[in-house]
Amino acid sequence: MPKLVYDFTEGNKDLKDLLGGKGANLAEMTNLGLPVPPGFTITSEACRAYMDDGSVPAEEIGTHLEKLEAAMGKKLGDPDDPLLVSVRSGAKFSMPGMMETVLNIGLNDRSVQGLVRQAGDERFAWDSYRRLIQMFGKTVMDIDGDLFEQAIDELKDGRTDLDLTAADFRSLVGTYKEIVRREKGRDFPEDPKEQMELAIKAVFDSWNAPRAILYRRQERIPSDLGTAVNVVAMVFGNLGMDSGTGVAFTRDPATGHQGVYGDYLQNAQGEDVVAGIRNTVPLQDLQEIDPHSYAELMEIMAKLEGHYRDLCDIEFTIERGKLWMLQTRVGKRTAGAAFCIATQLVEEGLIDLDEAVRRVTGDQLAQLMFPRFADDHGNTVLTRGMNASPGAAVGRAVFSSARAAELAAQGQDVILVRRETTPDDLAGMIAARGVLTSRGGKTSHAAVVARGMGKTCVCGAEEIEVDAKAGRFTVGDVVVEEGDVISIDGGTGCVYLGEVPVVASPVVEYFEGNPSGDELVRAVDTIMRHADGRRRLDVRANADTPDDAARARRFGASGIGLCRTEHMFLGDRRVLIEDLILAETAEERQAALDALEPLQKADFAGLFAAMNGLPVTIRLIDPPLHEFLPDIIDLSVKVATGKGTKKDRRLLEAVQRLHEQNPMLGLRGVRLGLVVPGLFAMQVRAIAEAAKAAEGARPEIMIPLVGAVQELESVREEARQILAEVGVEALIGTMIEVPRAALTAGQIAEAAEFFSFGTNDLTQMTWGFSRDDVESAFFGTYLDKGIFGVSPFESLDRDGVGRLMKVAVVEGRKARPGLKLGICGEHGGDPASVRFCHEIGLDYVSCSPFRVPVARLEAGRAALL
Ligand SMILES: Nc1ncnc2c1ncn2[C@@H]1O[C@H](COP(=O)(O)OP(=O)(O)OP(=O)(O)O)[C@@H](O)[C@H]1O
Ligand SMILES: [Mg+2]
Repeated sequence: MPKLVYDFTEGNKDLKDLLGGKGANLAEMTNLGLPVPPGFTITSEACRAYMDDGSVPAEEIGTHLEKLEAAMGKKLGDPDDPLLVSVRSGAKFSMPGMMETVLNIGLNDRSVQGLVRQAGDERFAWDSYRRLIQMFGKTVMDIDGDLFEQAIDELKDGRTDLDLTAADFRSLVGTYKEIVRREKGRDFPEDPKEQMELAIKAVFDSWNAPRAILYRRQERIPSDLGTAVNVVAMVFGNLGMDSGTGVAFTRDPATGHQGVYGDYLQNAQGEDVVAGIRNTVPLQDLQEIDPHSYAELMEIMAKLEGHYRDLCDIEFTIERGKLWMLQTRVGKRTAGAAFCIATQLVEEGLIDLDEAVRRVTGDQLAQLMFPRFADDHGNTVLTRGMNASPGAAVGRAVFSSARAAELAAQGQDVILVRRETTPDDLAGMIAARGVLTSRGGKTSHAAVVARGMGKTCVCGAEEIEVDAKAGRFTVGDVVVEEGDVISIDGGTGCVYLGEVPVVASPVVEYFEGNPSGDELVRAVDTIMRHADGRRRLDVRANADTPDDAARARRFGASGIGLCRTEHMFLGDRRVLIEDLILAETAEERQAALDALEPLQKADFAGLFAAMNGLPVTIRLIDPPLHEFLPDIIDLSVKVATGKGTKKDRRLLEAVQRLHEQNPMLGLRGVRLGLVVPGLFAMQVRAIAEAAKAAEGARPEIMIPLVGAVQELESVREEARQILAEVGVEALIGTMIEVPRAALTAGQIAEAAEFFSFGTNDLTQMTWGFSRDDVESAFFGTYLDKGIFGVSPFESLDRDGVGRLMKVAVVEGRKARPGLKLGICGEHGGDPASVRFCHEIGLDYVSCSPFRVPVARLEAGRAALL
């Protein structure tokens, strides 16, 4: 039989799997000699057994309870001198939706009298009793907590809790018991052991509460971990003004600065501090109130920091001048504080730089790179919604997608305001600086799509009434008309009237080469340098223009991993593509290609110059040609109304001929290269000529959408000839973005000098859904139902897409040792995906220039984990 119950003296902080976070840390503090009330932890293994067969390790619990009773010199619920305990849930990960805590277990109509005598305080005893019925009723018996709240509010009748007398609490106990009887058809259980057992079972059961299940599915927490339960001897903060309860941080969670940060509430118990029943006082005031306990607390906090080597948060209670520690854990902090604290701890000699790098995340760095509203801007908040997608956006309110696109085209900044968005709003969302909706949560269409685009979004601002027809929204009696300027903060969910000044991120300024001297920037610098020294992965950028390439270099990219060539066919070059498509003879086609070649050459020359000898991977044209043709509806109307020219009529024919049901799976990528003579050859020649002219250029030619080695062989042959003719060397490789390519990677590697995983397409084709269609259509539902916790387009799907990648890595390298491997899908800038790329042994990741620092940091962390 495994041991299912641990005394606090038997555990330690590394046993979180078994004892949960709370139990493990209570044990750690106990063994550090800190004043923790005695108690024991029922393990998560016991929870798993309970879920299997409903068993509770009653005997072991009984033995530990006896030990606890002996230590305290009291018996649970004893009528003369009762021991009281709390029953507290505590899983490895804290989880919303799970039962929390029941205090004062062991009280009943008889033992409350014993407590009155022992404490010499009638009011305290009855207050404790009514708290038990309230918490037990709500969390164990599942009674609506508002019923108890209403009853106490009625009794208070405007008084504070401090004004309530012993008689008041006594009558409240009666009222509460009636509520229990009425709601549950049974009496509140008076037997202390039964109270304890029911509470333990309720904690176990809450592991499978619907909200907890959903949360686990979304966060990918295994559903079979189970939760531990802590049984702790009660100490009382509600024994008068020399008692109280508080919370504290060992340093400021917003800045990391050392000091005294916390709140204290006299004559109160447990959750009163956070519940806000009375105003708390700053922790500093405790120095006046109870200098002895204050000094001890400061000493303990210093000890905890030294021991955990990190910022800790704590819960404590003072019972008649005696300090008790009730909880500690490594505390949450803001992104900026995470960087500052990590480097402060290095300076204080508590951790080394490797550890500092482990302690900050790419997501935190990404947060620090968004522009923010100035700190003391003074604008008042008009209303609030949910912080769905970060950033700070200012613009004129518009109420339709069309209007957004129209004003944006005139160079105006706009914020698209809608009740909720639908796929029809896409164009407007792209055009807008930010999106504001009055309905829908963090998985609504607006939220999902905005996050995907990296666009600022506040959603579900429920006070807003949107009247799109009239072109206005109202909040109470404030009216905002189309064209009025508003500001939205995607980090806090705040909406402001008028223009709030936006400040650039000092961290971006630092990457741009303009470091300010502030602490945060110094911390980021220290951490980035160290991460760069540790990482094995190279970080490249996806960049199509010399400007992007230059930024990528400033941000630390060591090459371009993906240059898309299709934008080079847009704008006034469209005509040339139209000529190519409409060409009827080989001569006409060649003439069109000849006109394009010098333009392409100039584009590549700019990139090579910007990258100055670093490798540049150029992908030959990928999208279907009809994407470059005018819209079919516009053309049809023009031709049908007789306004079209002869060319329009021919274009319409071409559009109709080239129309595809599933363009994503149609004539594109290498297929175009094989079907349209001369197209790839023109691009390769342009690359070769540009490379020849630029000193030290390192071109890498990448063929998209290959599914079979034969496709690659055929275009490679032609490319090699051209390179030889021009007298330039270049690697020739392929994207791996069709599942068949991954599965036949051994063959493909025979013809490819490098692979670059195109995980956007690979994800689409592996799942069989197209990103543009599904993100707006049903991803919200999928996220709500927990089918995935995060979109597979944001973070690599390790099990499916990742498996294909692994196959390709192993078989590709087997066929060609030294095969260069990278990734150029958007996943290349996603922290979890970067770690995966490190694990499977890629050589580099490539991502958008702004994500380059995030990828550098995560690549460093991956090497240290
Ligand atoms: N034995 C006890 N004596 C006095 N107060 C207690 C005791 N056990 C718990 N408390 C207090 O009751 C409150 C709630 O307890 P607990 O820490 O278990 O849950 P929580 O703080 O609501 O959630 P979390 O799991 O996030 O910590 C806390 O303020 C805690 O300090
Ligand atoms: Mg707590």
